[in-house]
Amino acid sequence: MINDKKIIFSGIQPSGNLTIGNYIGAIKNWVELQNDYQSLFCVVDMHAITVKQEPATLRKKSREVLKLYIASGLDPEKNIMFIQSQVPAHAELGWILNCYTYMGEMNRMTQFKEKSTKQNINTTVGLFDYPVLMAADILLYQTDLVPIGEDQKQHVEITRDIAERFNNLYSEIFTIPEAYMPKFGARIMSLQDPTKKMSKSDDDENSYITLLDDPAKIERKLKRAVTDSDTEVRYTKEKPGIKNLLDIYMSCTNTTVTQAENRFKNCGYGEFKQEVADAVIHTLKPIQDRFRELDNDKDYLDRILKQNAERASEIANRTLAKVKKKVGFVIGENK
Ligand code: TYM
Repeated sequence: MINDKKIIFSGIQPSGNLTIGNYIGAIKNWVELQNDYQSLFCVVDMHAITVKQEPATLRKKSREVLKLYIASGLDPEKNIMFIQSQVPAHAELGWILNCYTYMGEMNRMTQFKEKSTKQNINTTVGLFDYPVLMAADILLYQTDLVPIGEDQKQHVEITRDIAERFNNLYSEIFTIPEAYMPKFGARIMSLQDPTKKMSKSDDDENSYITLLDDPAKIERKLKRAVTDSDTEVRYTKEKPGIKNLLDIYMSCTNTTVTQAENRFKNCGYGEFKQEVADAVIHTLKPIQDRFRELDNDKDYLDRILKQNAERASEIANRTLAKVKKKVGFVIGENK
Protein backbone atom coordinates (compact mmCIF):
# COMPACT_ATOMS: atom_id res chain seq x y z
CA MET A 1 0.00 0.00 0.00
CA ILE A 2 1.09 3.55 -0.74
CA ASN A 3 -1.20 6.35 0.54
CA ASP A 4 -3.81 3.68 1.41
CA LYS A 5 -3.94 2.54 -2.18
CA LYS A 6 -3.09 -0.82 -3.64
CA ILE A 7 -0.20 -0.82 -6.07
CA ILE A 8 0.03 -1.33 -9.82
CA PHE A 9 3.24 -1.89 -11.73
CA SER A 10 3.57 -2.37 -15.46
CA GLY A 11 5.96 -1.53 -18.27
CA ILE A 12 6.65 -1.47 -21.98
CA GLN A 13 9.89 -2.00 -23.88
CA PRO A 14 11.05 1.01 -25.92
CA SER A 15 12.12 -1.33 -28.70
CA GLY A 16 9.98 -0.15 -31.60
CA ASN A 17 6.87 1.84 -32.28
CA LEU A 18 4.09 1.09 -29.81
CA THR A 19 1.18 -0.68 -31.47
CA ILE A 20 -2.54 -0.79 -30.83
CA GLY A 21 -1.75 -4.21 -29.30
CA ASN A 22 0.24 -2.45 -26.56
CA TYR A 23 -2.55 0.08 -26.16
CA ILE A 24 -5.48 -2.34 -26.05
CA GLY A 25 -3.66 -5.04 -24.08
CA ALA A 26 -2.04 -2.78 -21.52
CA ILE A 27 -2.20 1.05 -21.62
CA LYS A 28 -5.99 1.29 -21.91
CA ASN A 29 -6.38 -0.63 -18.65
CA TRP A 30 -3.71 1.49 -16.99
CA VAL A 31 -5.69 4.62 -17.84
CA GLU A 32 -8.88 3.07 -16.48
CA LEU A 33 -7.27 1.90 -13.24
CA GLN A 34 -5.09 4.92 -12.46
CA ASN A 35 -7.53 6.59 -10.07
CA ASP A 36 -8.07 3.53 -7.91
CA TYR A 37 -4.44 2.49 -7.46
CA GLN A 38 -1.04 4.00 -6.85
CA SER A 39 0.54 3.13 -10.16
CA LEU A 40 4.09 2.85 -11.43
CA PHE A 41 4.52 2.77 -15.20
CA CYS A 42 7.99 1.98 -16.37
CA VAL A 43 9.81 2.30 -19.68
CA VAL A 44 11.82 -0.90 -19.51
CA ASP A 45 14.97 -0.04 -21.45
CA MET A 46 16.98 -2.71 -19.62
CA HIS A 47 14.61 -5.29 -21.05
CA ALA A 48 14.99 -3.75 -24.50
CA ILE A 49 18.76 -4.42 -24.62
CA THR A 50 18.16 -8.17 -24.34
CA VAL A 51 18.14 -7.89 -28.14
CA LYS A 52 20.43 -5.60 -30.14
CA GLN A 53 19.47 -1.91 -30.08
CA GLU A 54 20.93 1.13 -31.77
CA PRO A 55 21.93 3.40 -28.82
CA ALA A 56 20.66 6.72 -30.21
CA THR A 57 17.37 5.12 -31.25
CA LEU A 58 16.90 3.45 -27.87
CA ARG A 59 17.43 6.77 -26.09
CA LYS A 60 14.94 8.49 -28.39
CA LYS A 61 12.37 5.70 -28.10
CA SER A 62 12.56 5.68 -24.30
CA ARG A 63 11.49 9.30 -24.19
CA GLU A 64 8.90 8.68 -26.87
CA VAL A 65 7.29 5.88 -24.85
CA LEU A 66 7.08 8.15 -21.83
CA LYS A 67 5.41 10.80 -23.99
CA LEU A 68 2.96 8.21 -25.28
CA TYR A 69 2.10 7.24 -21.71
CA ILE A 70 1.23 10.84 -20.94
CA ALA A 71 -0.50 11.40 -24.29
CA SER A 72 -2.65 8.31 -23.68
CA GLY A 73 -4.07 9.93 -20.58
CA LEU A 74 -1.80 8.78 -17.76
CA ASP A 75 -1.39 11.60 -15.28
CA PRO A 76 2.32 12.24 -14.61
CA GLU A 77 1.58 13.95 -11.32
CA LYS A 78 -0.45 11.07 -9.94
CA ASN A 79 1.39 8.09 -11.38
CA ILE A 80 5.07 7.33 -11.04
CA MET A 81 6.37 7.09 -14.62
CA PHE A 82 10.05 6.47 -15.08
CA ILE A 83 12.82 4.79 -17.05
CA GLN A 84 13.98 1.47 -15.63
CA SER A 85 17.74 2.05 -16.00
CA GLN A 86 17.47 5.22 -13.91
CA VAL A 87 16.54 3.16 -10.84
CA PRO A 88 19.51 0.86 -10.11
CA ALA A 89 17.51 -1.24 -7.62
CA HIS A 90 16.00 -3.13 -10.59
CA ALA A 91 19.37 -4.54 -11.63
CA GLU A 92 20.36 -5.25 -8.04
CA LEU A 93 17.24 -7.17 -7.13
CA GLY A 94 17.32 -8.87 -10.53
CA TRP A 95 20.70 -10.35 -9.70
CA ILE A 96 19.64 -11.52 -6.26
CA LEU A 97 16.49 -13.16 -7.63
CA ASN A 98 18.59 -14.97 -10.24
CA CYS A 99 20.01 -16.91 -7.36
CA TYR A 100 16.52 -17.99 -6.29
CA THR A 101 15.28 -19.04 -9.73
CA TYR A 102 15.85 -22.43 -11.32
CA MET A 103 17.09 -23.10 -14.84
CA GLY A 104 14.20 -25.53 -15.29
CA GLU A 105 11.70 -22.74 -14.63
CA MET A 106 13.30 -20.42 -17.15
CA ASN A 107 13.52 -23.21 -19.71
CA ARG A 108 9.72 -23.38 -19.70
CA MET A 109 9.19 -19.74 -20.74
CA THR A 110 7.40 -19.82 -24.07
CA GLN A 111 8.29 -16.27 -25.07
CA PHE A 112 12.01 -17.05 -24.81
CA LYS A 113 11.55 -20.14 -26.95
CA GLU A 114 9.71 -18.13 -29.61
CA LYS A 115 12.14 -15.20 -29.59
CA SER A 116 15.29 -17.32 -29.53
CA THR A 117 14.18 -19.54 -32.40
CA LYS A 118 13.33 -16.45 -34.43
CA GLN A 119 16.80 -15.00 -33.80
CA ASN A 120 18.56 -18.36 -33.82
CA ILE A 121 22.09 -16.92 -33.70
CA ASN A 122 23.77 -15.30 -30.71
CA THR A 123 20.84 -15.40 -28.33
CA THR A 124 21.96 -13.56 -25.19
CA VAL A 125 21.86 -14.72 -21.58
CA GLY A 126 19.91 -11.52 -20.93
CA LEU A 127 17.08 -12.67 -23.19
CA PHE A 128 16.92 -15.97 -21.35
CA ASP A 129 17.01 -14.24 -17.97
CA TYR A 130 14.55 -11.46 -18.78
CA PRO A 131 11.61 -12.85 -16.75
CA VAL A 132 13.74 -12.58 -13.59
CA LEU A 133 14.37 -8.89 -14.25
CA MET A 134 10.64 -8.52 -14.80
CA ALA A 135 10.04 -10.25 -11.44
CA ALA A 136 12.40 -7.73 -9.82
CA ASP A 137 10.50 -4.83 -11.44
CA ILE A 138 7.25 -6.05 -10.00
CA LEU A 139 8.40 -7.20 -6.57
CA LEU A 140 10.42 -4.08 -5.71
CA TYR A 141 7.23 -2.07 -5.37
CA GLN A 142 5.13 -4.58 -3.39
CA THR A 143 2.84 -4.67 -6.41
CA ASP A 144 -0.70 -6.00 -6.06
CA LEU A 145 -1.79 -5.87 -9.69
CA VAL A 146 0.06 -6.16 -13.01
CA PRO A 147 -2.08 -5.06 -15.98
CA ILE A 148 -0.66 -6.77 -19.08
CA GLY A 149 -1.55 -8.52 -22.30
CA GLU A 150 -1.78 -12.30 -22.45
CA ASP A 151 1.79 -12.87 -23.65
CA GLN A 152 3.15 -11.64 -20.30
CA LYS A 153 0.93 -13.84 -18.14
CA GLN A 154 3.50 -16.62 -17.80
CA HIS A 155 6.07 -14.07 -16.61
CA VAL A 156 3.75 -12.86 -13.86
CA GLU A 157 3.21 -16.48 -12.83
CA ILE A 158 6.95 -17.08 -12.50
CA THR A 159 7.18 -13.82 -10.53
CA ARG A 160 4.63 -15.21 -8.08
CA ASP A 161 6.57 -18.47 -7.77
CA ILE A 162 9.85 -16.66 -7.09
CA ALA A 163 8.18 -14.37 -4.53
CA GLU A 164 6.53 -17.26 -2.72
CA ARG A 165 9.80 -19.17 -2.59
CA PHE A 166 11.59 -16.16 -1.15
CA ASN A 167 8.85 -15.49 1.40
CA ASN A 168 8.86 -19.10 2.52
CA LEU A 169 12.59 -18.90 3.15
CA TYR A 170 12.75 -15.51 4.83
CA SER A 171 9.28 -14.37 6.03
CA GLU A 172 6.84 -12.12 4.18
CA ILE A 173 9.14 -9.83 2.20
CA PHE A 174 7.20 -9.60 -1.06
CA THR A 175 3.55 -9.00 -1.89
CA ILE A 176 2.30 -11.71 -4.24
CA PRO A 177 1.11 -9.91 -7.41
CA GLU A 178 -1.78 -10.79 -9.69
CA ALA A 179 -2.00 -10.43 -13.45
CA TYR A 180 -4.86 -8.35 -14.85
CA MET A 181 -5.93 -8.62 -18.48
CA PRO A 182 -8.63 -7.00 -20.59
CA LYS A 183 -11.71 -9.08 -21.35
CA PHE A 184 -11.27 -8.46 -25.08
CA GLY A 185 -8.01 -7.72 -26.79
CA ALA A 186 -5.58 -9.38 -24.36
CA ARG A 187 -3.96 -10.77 -27.51
CA ILE A 188 -4.34 -8.58 -30.58
CA MET A 189 -3.16 -10.50 -33.62
CA SER A 190 -1.10 -9.57 -36.67
CA LEU A 191 -3.21 -8.02 -39.44
CA GLN A 192 -1.32 -10.10 -41.98
CA ASP A 193 -1.40 -13.40 -40.10
CA PRO A 194 -4.18 -13.58 -37.51
CA THR A 195 -2.70 -16.70 -35.94
CA LYS A 196 0.34 -14.67 -34.83
CA LYS A 197 0.53 -11.94 -32.16
CA MET A 198 0.70 -8.32 -33.37
CA SER A 199 4.22 -7.22 -32.52
CA LYS A 200 6.11 -3.94 -32.71
CA SER A 201 9.19 -5.85 -33.85
CA ASP A 202 7.48 -7.52 -36.84
CA ASP A 203 9.34 -6.97 -40.13
CA ASP A 204 6.10 -6.43 -42.04
CA GLU A 205 4.80 -2.92 -41.36
CA ASN A 206 1.35 -3.93 -42.61
CA SER A 207 0.96 -6.41 -39.78
CA TYR A 208 0.55 -3.75 -37.09
CA ILE A 209 -0.90 -0.30 -36.50
CA THR A 210 1.25 2.03 -34.45
CA LEU A 211 -0.14 4.65 -32.10
CA LEU A 212 1.32 7.35 -34.33
CA ASP A 213 0.09 6.06 -37.72
CA ASP A 214 -1.86 8.72 -39.59
CA PRO A 215 -5.49 8.07 -40.61
CA ALA A 216 -4.66 7.18 -44.23
CA LYS A 217 -2.14 4.57 -43.10
CA ILE A 218 -4.56 3.08 -40.57
CA GLU A 219 -7.26 2.82 -43.22
CA ARG A 220 -4.87 1.24 -45.69
CA LYS A 221 -3.51 -1.33 -43.24
CA LEU A 222 -6.99 -2.34 -42.09
CA LYS A 223 -8.27 -2.62 -45.64
CA ARG A 224 -5.43 -5.06 -46.35
CA ALA A 225 -6.03 -7.05 -43.17
CA VAL A 226 -6.26 -10.78 -43.84
CA THR A 227 -9.75 -12.17 -43.17
CA ASP A 228 -11.40 -15.20 -44.83
CA SER A 229 -13.43 -16.15 -47.88
CA ASP A 230 -16.72 -16.04 -45.97
CA THR A 231 -18.95 -12.93 -45.77
CA GLU A 232 -20.30 -13.01 -42.22
CA VAL A 233 -18.95 -10.81 -39.39
CA ARG A 234 -19.08 -13.18 -36.45
CA TYR A 235 -17.02 -13.48 -33.24
CA THR A 236 -15.63 -16.99 -33.32
CA LYS A 237 -12.19 -18.55 -33.22
CA GLU A 238 -12.98 -20.27 -36.53
CA LYS A 239 -12.67 -16.80 -38.08
CA PRO A 240 -9.44 -15.49 -36.51
CA GLY A 241 -9.05 -12.48 -38.83
CA ILE A 242 -12.61 -11.23 -38.24
CA LYS A 243 -12.42 -12.01 -34.52
CA ASN A 244 -9.26 -9.93 -34.26
CA LEU A 245 -10.85 -6.96 -36.04
CA LEU A 246 -13.89 -7.28 -33.77
CA ASP A 247 -11.61 -7.29 -30.71
CA ILE A 248 -10.03 -4.07 -31.95
CA TYR A 249 -13.43 -2.55 -32.71
CA MET A 250 -14.99 -3.55 -29.37
CA SER A 251 -12.04 -2.21 -27.45
CA CYS A 252 -12.05 1.12 -29.29
CA THR A 253 -15.80 1.61 -28.97
CA ASN A 254 -16.35 -0.09 -25.58
CA THR A 255 -19.03 -2.36 -27.01
CA THR A 256 -19.96 -5.99 -26.37
CA VAL A 257 -19.85 -8.95 -28.75
CA THR A 258 -23.63 -8.85 -29.23
CA GLN A 259 -23.65 -5.13 -29.94
CA ALA A 260 -20.79 -5.44 -32.42
CA GLU A 261 -22.21 -8.50 -34.19
CA ASN A 262 -25.62 -6.80 -34.50
CA ARG A 263 -24.01 -3.65 -35.80
CA PHE A 264 -22.35 -5.57 -38.65
CA LYS A 265 -25.11 -8.10 -39.32
CA ASN A 266 -25.71 -7.19 -42.92
CA CYS A 267 -22.37 -5.60 -43.66
CA GLY A 268 -19.80 -6.77 -46.18
CA TYR A 269 -16.18 -7.04 -45.06
CA GLY A 270 -15.28 -3.80 -46.87
CA GLU A 271 -17.78 -1.73 -44.89
CA PHE A 272 -16.84 -3.55 -41.67
CA LYS A 273 -13.15 -2.79 -42.16
CA GLN A 274 -13.92 0.88 -42.79
CA GLU A 275 -15.87 1.06 -39.50
CA VAL A 276 -12.99 -0.58 -37.63
CA ALA A 277 -10.61 1.95 -39.21
CA ASP A 278 -12.88 4.86 -38.17
CA ALA A 279 -13.01 3.53 -34.60
CA VAL A 280 -9.22 3.20 -34.41
CA ILE A 281 -8.64 6.65 -35.94
CA HIS A 282 -11.12 8.19 -33.48
CA THR A 283 -9.38 6.48 -30.52
CA LEU A 284 -5.87 7.50 -31.57
CA LYS A 285 -6.59 11.09 -32.61
CA PRO A 286 -6.50 12.66 -29.10
CA ILE A 287 -3.39 10.62 -28.23
CA GLN A 288 -1.60 11.84 -31.36
CA ASP A 289 -2.62 15.47 -30.77
CA ARG A 290 -1.33 15.45 -27.21
CA PHE A 291 1.85 13.64 -28.26
CA ARG A 292 2.63 16.44 -30.70
CA GLU A 293 2.10 19.07 -28.00
CA LEU A 294 4.51 17.23 -25.71
CA ASP A 295 7.07 17.12 -28.49
CA ASN A 296 7.76 20.79 -27.93
CA ASP A 297 8.19 20.50 -24.19
CA LYS A 298 11.53 18.84 -23.46
CA ASP A 299 12.05 20.50 -20.06
CA TYR A 300 8.71 19.27 -18.81
CA LEU A 301 9.60 15.70 -19.74
CA ASP A 302 13.06 15.92 -18.16
CA ARG A 303 11.55 17.20 -14.94
CA ILE A 304 9.05 14.34 -14.80
CA LEU A 305 11.75 11.79 -15.47
CA LYS A 306 14.00 13.09 -12.72
CA GLN A 307 11.28 13.48 -10.10
CA ASN A 308 9.73 10.12 -10.79
CA ALA A 309 12.99 8.19 -10.83
CA GLU A 310 13.63 9.61 -7.36
CA ARG A 311 10.17 8.65 -6.12
CA ALA A 312 10.51 5.15 -7.56
CA SER A 313 13.99 4.71 -6.08
CA GLU A 314 12.76 5.63 -2.65
CA ILE A 315 10.10 2.89 -2.68
CA ALA A 316 12.32 0.33 -4.41
CA ASN A 317 15.22 0.86 -2.01
CA ARG A 318 13.02 0.05 0.97
CA THR A 319 12.30 -3.41 -0.42
CA LEU A 320 15.87 -3.88 -1.59
CA ALA A 321 17.26 -3.08 1.88
CA LYS A 322 15.02 -5.73 3.46
CA VAL A 323 16.08 -8.28 0.84
CA LYS A 324 19.79 -7.56 1.28
CA LYS A 325 19.49 -7.98 5.00
CA LYS A 326 17.67 -11.30 4.65
CA VAL A 327 20.17 -12.82 2.21
CA GLY A 328 23.09 -11.87 4.43
CA PHE A 329 24.71 -8.83 2.81
CA VAL A 330 26.56 -6.37 5.01
CA ILE A 331 24.56 -3.15 5.07
CA GLY A 332 26.00 0.07 6.47
CA GLU A 333 26.65 -0.31 10.19
CA ASN A 334 24.87 -3.67 10.52
CA LYS A 335 26.90 -6.33 12.26
P1 TYM B 1 6.09 -5.52 -24.27
O1 TYM B 1 6.91 -4.28 -24.37
O2 TYM B 1 6.32 -6.59 -25.26
O3 TYM B 1 4.55 -5.14 -24.33
C1 TYM B 1 4.02 -4.17 -23.45
C2 TYM B 1 2.61 -4.55 -23.04
O4 TYM B 1 1.77 -4.68 -24.19
C3 TYM B 1 1.16 -5.96 -24.19
N1 TYM B 1 1.05 -6.42 -25.58
C4 TYM B 1 -0.07 -6.84 -26.14
N2 TYM B 1 -1.32 -6.96 -25.68
C5 TYM B 1 -2.27 -7.43 -26.52
N3 TYM B 1 -2.01 -7.77 -27.81
C6 TYM B 1 -0.77 -7.67 -28.33
N4 TYM B 1 -0.52 -8.00 -29.59
C7 TYM B 1 0.27 -7.18 -27.48
N5 TYM B 1 1.59 -6.94 -27.66
C8 TYM B 1 2.05 -6.48 -26.49
C9 TYM B 1 2.09 -6.85 -23.39
O5 TYM B 1 1.44 -7.98 -22.89
C10 TYM B 1 2.55 -5.90 -22.31
O6 TYM B 1 1.61 -5.82 -21.28
N6 TYM B 1 8.31 -7.90 -20.45
C11 TYM B 1 7.32 -6.90 -20.82
C12 TYM B 1 7.60 -5.55 -20.21
C13 TYM B 1 7.82 -5.58 -18.75
C14 TYM B 1 6.81 -5.63 -17.75
C15 TYM B 1 7.51 -5.60 -16.50
C16 TYM B 1 5.41 -5.69 -17.79
C17 TYM B 1 9.02 -5.53 -18.12
N7 TYM B 1 8.83 -5.54 -16.74
C18 TYM B 1 6.81 -5.66 -15.29
C19 TYM B 1 4.73 -5.74 -16.59
C20 TYM B 1 5.42 -5.72 -15.34
C21 TYM B 1 7.30 -6.74 -22.33
O7 TYM B 1 8.23 -7.10 -23.00
O8 TYM B 1 6.18 -6.11 -22.80
